[in-house]
Amino acid sequence: MFRQTVFFSFLLFLSPGSAYTNRSTGSSQNYGSTRFRQSIATRMTTHSRPAGVTIDKEVLRQVLHVAIDASKKAGEIILGNAGGAEVTKSKANSRDLLTLIDPICEKTIRETILETFPNHDFLGEEDVSPGKEASAAAIEAKLSNSDSNWLWIVDPIDGTTNFVHGMPLSMPSVAAAYKGEVMVGVIYDPHRDELFTATRGGGSFMNGKPIKVGEQGSIGDAVVAMGSPPADESMQMSLKGVQALMPKVRTIRMIGSAAVMLAWVANGRLTCYWEYDLSSWDISAGALLIQEAGGRFTDLEGNDFTLRTRKMCASNGIIHNEILNVLNESGVI
Ligand code: IPD
Ligand code: CA
Repeated sequence: MFRQTVFFSFLLFLSPGSAYTNRSTGSSQNYGSTRFRQSIATRMTTHSRPAGVTIDKEVLRQVLHVAIDASKKAGEIILGNAGGAEVTKSKANSRDLLTLIDPICEKTIRETILETFPNHDFLGEEDVSPGKEASAAAIEAKLSNSDSNWLWIVDPIDGTTNFVHGMPLSMPSVAAAYKGEVMVGVIYDPHRDELFTATRGGGSFMNGKPIKVGEQGSIGDAVVAMGSPPADESMQMSLKGVQALMPKVRTIRMIGSAAVMLAWVANGRLTCYWEYDLSSWDISAGALLIQEAGGRFTDLEGNDFTLRTRKMCASNGIIHNEILNVLNESGVI
């Protein structure tokens, strides 16, 4: 109840645009102002926080605010082009598409973040060459060699194939990590106007209301989502997995956006989502949403999520091991 009250006052506090009024002091502050940027810079240099330690609440609140702002701007662009988009390039192969709109969304998100946090590092899908090796190397480079403790990890349009075909299942996924640990995750679905937000230790929310993972207690009651990444090995593993799981679970869904499937596990529409090979920008925001909604996010061996995780399983936690066992026994590991 306390958390709910705090969050609602927080939303009121943040509401319209990028300026807010502090209700207790009556002063107003603009997130883009030099004074505001300086105050954040001071906070960040005066608090040295080892990994695993809670971040200053005010900084976390500011990071969340910017993540929401950036996601909403990208969401507007996606919505404005929701009728379908022209493919400008096939990346890894004909199943891996790029439109003119993806880089526009990424630029918008990047500029929004850097305007307030000019010293933060940024990793966006569109900056990286296609293919698994390049995306694994990109996050590795950021984690092992960055000037900033903060790293933003962004998929400007997750569900690009849906976007190209005019299906309303495409959205930005924005995460901010501090010393390699995701602290803020935002997934904004512009088609349904559903804003999913999470901060580490602060819970998960949809449009300001707390969300929880589903309560299904056995895989027979589970609605399991999955995806099939573009590469061949992943496709073979996805086929094995679907064959093993389909007879055991209630049903299987392939929705075509990791972001929406993760958000929907977090709010209980889905019980589980697994995929054989994803990149950090597909899953970072969603991983925090699920953990903060009471669920579990691991790799296919059962190790907890890190920014390097690629083979993934996210669930309500209750059926997690059962799903992993079925997958592993069928050779998916
Ligand atoms: C894809 C989506 C899809 C998943 C693919 C991803 P993109 O991301 O998340 O659901 O199955 O593996 O590559 O290319 O639309 O950003
Ligand atoms: Ca993606």
